[in-house]
Amino acid sequence: MGVDNKKLHILQQLQTTFSSGLFEDLVENFPDIIHSVNKDGRIVSTNRKAEELLSYTKSELIGMPIFDLYAEEVQNQLRSGFEKLKKSGYSQSVESKLKAKDGEIIDVEIRSISLYDSENNFDRTFSIIRDIREKKSIQAQLYQQSKLAGIGELAAGIIHDIRNPLAVIKGFASKGISRAVEKKDFESVLKLQSKILKASDRIDRLCSHLRDYMRQEHELPEPTILKTLVEDCLLICENRASTAGAKIVNEVTDPDFVATLPSNSVEQVLINIVSNACDAVSGCELREVRVRARKEVADASTNKVVFEVEDTGPGVPAKVAEKIFESFFTTKPKGKGTGLGLSICAGLVEEHGGKLSIDSSYTDGARFVIEFPTETSFQPKSDSI
Ligand SMILES: Nc1ncnc2c1ncn2[C@@H]1O[C@H](COP(=O)(O)OP(=O)(O)O)[C@@H](O)[C@H]1O
Ligand SMILES: [Mg+2]
Repeated sequence: MGVDNKKLHILQQLQTTFSSGLFEDLVENFPDIIHSVNKDGRIVSTNRKAEELLSYTKSELIGMPIFDLYAEEVQNQLRSGFEKLKKSGYSQSVESKLKAKDGEIIDVEIRSISLYDSENNFDRTFSIIRDIREKKSIQAQLYQQSKLAGIGELAAGIIHDIRNPLAVIKGFASKGISRAVEKKDFESVLKLQSKILKASDRIDRLCSHLRDYMRQEHELPEPTILKTLVEDCLLICENRASTAGAKIVNEVTDPDFVATLPSNSVEQVLINIVSNACDAVSGCELREVRVRARKEVADASTNKVVFEVEDTGPGVPAKVAEKIFESFFTTKPKGKGTGLGLSICAGLVEEHGGKLSIDSSYTDGARFVIEFPTETSFQPKSDSI
């Protein structure tokens, strides 16, 4: 309770330092919403910014259950956050979504403390709520740019992946089929037709997968079958693997292994790291890349999914490991490497509250460890009101 008492003390000091009128003026004209909520979860005081942002009048707001002011999707997180806040007395800055009177959803950042009475019983919370819509839109643009940079890195391989089956289609459609028809060999015609369909399916899968991957909106975690997720990544890396003569082993084989994850971001990270691993093993005697995943308990309320990408390449020397997540750091020749892959990955993983690291205890090559929090802990970084 040390932190809370300190906060309460600061607040009391502020209240006495300012003449009461000045203090009220400060709260009333503050550029963020400032409000106080009692133990029943009802608003007991608020300021002008709340009226402006939410389009309710102050008299409508006072007495209103605080949960009514938030979007449906954040209700659970909010209620458990309120209970935690009552006990812990303090919450770190968290992101959430307010719902204005006209239904408009407003992205906000909240900081809260609890105030206690002289007998240390919970009295009310005190929160500062900031409109972060502009910050969110800049973040979304950066996120999209990082995806574009990722696609740029993979472009050559993707073009190759599309041209290969196209060449098959063209060849069979232009010569193979006419020859077979001339010979009245209809069995071969059917065989060629099925090969053409298979090749078109492959292009179709690749294109629709790329379209999903490039979707603009900020990603919310969703239940994901990990086996399919890894297979989709490997489809995009196939060309890079075959150029390097690498064999990729997908150890994620259980179709029932499902986790709530931001699948696009996870894919982008895996694609980058598997592509690097393919580059690393090229020229080695043993050229193997393994991808695996497991679920781990992070703490009492959090699970995480841990992916590992392991290769039989030369490994990452300590000197390289120090700089490996920096932008533009590359040991590859000009035209081959941009040095952007891992820095983009590190940013993406961090954005989702995860961790990207190199397992230095692994000495038979390189092992990258990617941890993503899953279920409750995802969004925002901690629960609060
Ligand atoms: N699996 C790996 N084994 C050895 N070195 C690696 C591996 N993955 C990445 N690296 C090193 O990290 C550097 C940075 O990687 P990255 O950020 O993806 O940029 P790029 O691939 O364009 O060089 C690579 O140039 C390479 O030196
Ligand atoms: Mg790379």
